[in-house]
Amino acid sequence: MARDEYYELLEAVAPTVARLHAEHVERREHWYAHDYVPWEKGRNFRTEPWDESQATLSPEVRTSLVFNLLTEDNLPYYHTALEHHLPHDSVYGEWNRRWTAEEAQHSIAIRSYLLTSRNCDPNELEDDRYATMSRGYQDTFHNPVEVFAYTAAQELATRVSHRNAGKLADEEVAYQIMGRIATDENHHFMFYRGVIMEMLNENPSVVLAAVYRVLANFQMPGTGIPGYLRRSVEMAKAAVYNLRIHNDRVITPLLRDWKIDQLTDLTAQAREVQQAIMELPAKVLRRAEAFERRFGMAT
Ligand SMILES: [Fe+2]
Ligand SMILES: [Fe+2]
Repeated sequence: MARDEYYELLEAVAPTVARLHAEHVERREHWYAHDYVPWEKGRNFRTEPWDESQATLSPEVRTSLVFNLLTEDNLPYYHTALEHHLPHDSVYGEWNRRWTAEEAQHSIAIRSYLLTSRNCDPNELEDDRYATMSRGYQDTFHNPVEVFAYTAAQELATRVSHRNAGKLADEEVAYQIMGRIATDENHHFMFYRGVIMEMLNENPSVVLAAVYRVLANFQMPGTGIPGYLRRSVEMAKAAVYNLRIHNDRVITPLLRDWKIDQLTDLTAQAREVQQAIMELPAKVLRRAEAFERRFGMAT
């Protein structure tokens, strides 16, 4: 489909997007990171330098919180990607600006928590942030439909990852902060999921192709984080986020919510894509099993 036709599709679903936006504003509870951060625990790093013995969380929980924070730190690039692919003077631009404002609080909250509770090396955290943001993030979206398919999956994935990291922390404040952020991600997810739902009503064949390309090549944001592989393996082993979780909590619910298997009125090519999408869970599970065997994880 030509670029203009994607813009026609955005126009066609704009009234629904405006409704989803209004519902989001109505539904999301405004919150303050400072209500959660344990400021009373904050101490001066100049007079009392950080030492690992001060940390209260397990190494894998600290890895997860730092990793999720560095991912959130890259927000300027995600904002730019949405700005690039979506019309600025429209409900899409309005959404991007609101979403950016909400996302920005996530890094504020996690960073404040980690520094006051001394659960990360502050120099290493800053060096990693600097390295991550200097590397940036280049999106691979071919069209605006892929933007929405990806953000739906990514928001759901970060919701799960933040929530699991908070649960595993086994510490009240970390649990509350990560749960609060996960709730935001859930609201974002509901918006993006709804946009794809409406796009599927409008032009199922074109939208299926985008959904397939995104889900078949899905990667969490954050690949530019130093030690990405080592950190993501640690999080996978700790069951904060791994391929099995990705299948059970992201891919399978999305296929069900979007009723992918029930779509009709498809071109012959789109019917093949539909079948390929429905085969994705089995493929991801095979990769999950290989990972679990390799690391001796019980399932
Ligand atoms: Fe976030
Ligand atoms: Fe989000």
